[in-house]
This record gives sequence, structure tokens and C-alpha cells, in this order.
Amino acid sequence: MRSGRADPRSRLAPKRSRALGMHVRRARAEDQAFIADLGGRSVEASASSLRPAGNAELVANFAALLTYALGRDHAILLAEREGRPSGFALLIFDLPDEVTGVPQAFLAYMAVEPAHRCLGTGRALLRAAEDEAIGRGLPYISLMVTEENEAGRRLYEGAGYATERRLLCKAL
Ligand SMILES: CC(C)(COP(=O)(O)OP(=O)(O)OC[C@H]1O[C@@H](n2cnc3c(N)ncnc32)[C@H](O)[C@@H]1OP(=O)(O)O)[C@@H](O)C(=O)NCCC(=O)NCCS
Repeated sequence: MRSGRADPRSRLAPKRSRALGMHVRRARAEDQAFIADLGGRSVEASASSLRPAGNAELVANFAALLTYALGRDHAILLAEREGRPSGFALLIFDLPDEVTGVPQAFLAYMAVEPAHRCLGTGRALLRAAEDEAIGRGLPYISLMVTEENEAGRRLYEGAGYATERRLLCKAL
């Protein structure tokens, strides 16, 4: 996994919260199984009632997203709590904004272990993702979030993200 390598462009330094026993670091090759597993277990939160899909399809599509990202300029940040993997954020850097062409970091996915949610891990991962983008000189970070994903929407809105465009869908 390329994200395991030190990247001189990045300002990412381990972010520690001693009170929470949590820190964010760059993912390593041995984290890939955790990332694939947690992604598959959590991706249902990104499905919408407009496009019903089975869990097997969602899991397969998350695996395809991961493979796609690993083949591009990317980084995976991993949150650890008490020394165990607790969540991750997957960033892609070579997908500029499709309208302006302006470079950006694209947050392709993030997730936190269900048992570790609402403890600030998502917020810490998001902050680390922004630091990673800033360290690479990127002027923006963007992401997509499903309308019905209240936890995700609140996390991003609380961190200052604004709706730029809307993805519309109509069942035919
Ligand atoms: C979205 C997700 C990553 C949030 O992670 P988390 O570690 O629980 O988030 P945090 O504890 O850092 O919470 C940060 C803010 O998010 C919001 N939030 C988090 N969970 C929430 C929930 N269940 N309901 C409402 N708001 C929630 C709150 O505004 C919270 O701030 P507060 O604690 O000051 O109220 C987590 O719920 C998750 O993994 N969900 C499944 C996968 C997913 O939806 N990923 C996002 C794809 S776009």
C-alpha cells in the first residue's frame, strides 16, 4: 500500500490524544485487511433508499473503490485506539474538481468502528485528512455524503463543509 510510505510532501504527524488513547497515523500494508473489512461492514451507511441494493453488492463495490483508489495517487490514514485499529480515511489526490479543474483532495471514504463511534475519532480523521491535503499544497478537500447519512452529514457540516453541488437521482 503506497500510503504506508513516508511522503515528504505531507505534514502528517502522528496526532495523539492521550486522554482518549487515540492517534491517527498513515496506514501500513498490514492494515489493509482491517480497512477492507471495516469498509465492507460500514458501507451500508452510504446507500440511499432511492437505489435499493443488497449488502453483497455494496461490499463488492466498496472493494472495487478500494482497488481503484490504491491504483491512484492516494493516502489512507488510520486511527488507532488503545493500540488497535479504530477507523480510517481514504483520500485520492489526482481527481481535480470536474468543473473548474482545480486540484483537490477527494475524501473517497471514511469509517469508524461501530463500538468506537461518537468519541471524536471521525473528527480526528477528518482533521488529519485536511492536514494531509494542506501538506500537499492542495487548496480544497471535497467529498460526497448520502443525504440519509445523518452521522456523516453532521460530522462534515460541523467541520465546516458546505454543499457545493447536488447529486440528483430519479428511479425509472
Ligand atoms: C460518520 C462516522 C465516520 C462518524 O465517526 P465518529 O467517530 O462517530 O464521529 P465523531 O465522534 O468524531 O463525531 C463528530 C461529529 O459528528 C456528528 N455525529 C457523529 N455521529 C453521529 C450520530 N450518530 N448522529 C448524529 N451526529 C453524529 C456529531 O456532530 C459529532 O460532533 P459532536 O460529538 O460534537 O456532536 C461514523 O458514524 C461511521 O463510520 N459511519 C459509517 C460509515 C460512514 O457513514 N462514513 C461516511 C461516508 S461519507
